[in-house]
Amino acid sequence: MAMTDVLEAEVRTGQIKIHTPEDFEGMRRAGRLAAECLDMITPHIVPGVATETIDTLAREFILDHGALPACLGYKGYTHTLCISPNHVVCHGFPSERPLREGDIVNCDVTVIVDGWHGDHSRMYPVGEIAPRARRLIDVTYEGMARGLAAIKPGNTFGDIGFAIQQYVEAQRCSVVRDFCGHGLGRVFHDSPNVLHYGRPGEGAVLQPGMFFTVEPMVNLGKPQVKVLSDGWTAVTRDKSLSAQCEHSVGVTETGVEIFTASPLFKPAL
Ligand code: MF3
Ligand code: CO
Ligand code: CO
Repeated sequence: MAMTDVLEAEVRTGQIKIHTPEDFEGMRRAGRLAAECLDMITPHIVPGVATETIDTLAREFILDHGALPACLGYKGYTHTLCISPNHVVCHGFPSERPLREGDIVNCDVTVIVDGWHGDHSRMYPVGEIAPRARRLIDVTYEGMARGLAAIKPGNTFGDIGFAIQQYVEAQRCSVVRDFCGHGLGRVFHDSPNVLHYGRPGEGAVLQPGMFFTVEPMVNLGKPQVKVLSDGWTAVTRDKSLSAQCEHSVGVTETGVEIFTASPLFKPAL
């Protein structure tokens, strides 16, 4: 699509949009490309590779598929991916810094396909990683999975947050409060804010046709974060390891459809 179509896209209204069956078809295509992009980079996440090399691979892959990298130029962001290693919570810049054996790294991509946004992130181990790093990745993935399992018409956004928080804290990890999931569709970051903590029955009621992300950030230590002076990079205040997983989903008549699902995305690699 032309750049002008993107610029004319709808803006946030404060209402949670209810989408049509045709809109689901658009999100399937966007979600599939986001998943294929993160599948594609998997073999490149190895010791010695600069994270900007991975960013370039992702950008070229997205453009080659006739899509647009949503983050490039978004609020002044100058990369395709957010690449967040170790104690970086989110919004890490790809750079010339090489990955090192034992790092754990989140790669987050958002693609735009015919105006629809597919937003997806995974954790990647770099070579052999420590058992506590492996455990953090597994807890984060399972926390996201439990949040997704709470999605069906009649449940609330608070049910999603509660399911995540209860599991993560029982594993003696913490849920980051400063960032949340979001509605998406033709808009990248739309209403509502999807909190990864909460209480059962709180918040808006889930209805078929709602599209949003579930993207918990989980720390081995305390939940507090700080944003570095570059204005983007969020790190844990206590320097503890942090992990994140993200899916883009739609509420169906009976439950949830995961637009960014891939058989290659598993917590334990
Ligand atoms: N993909 C991120 C999210 O999950 C947003 C990144 S915005 C950027 O919402 F500008 F940093 F790319
Ligand atoms: Co997101
Ligand atoms: Co994302």
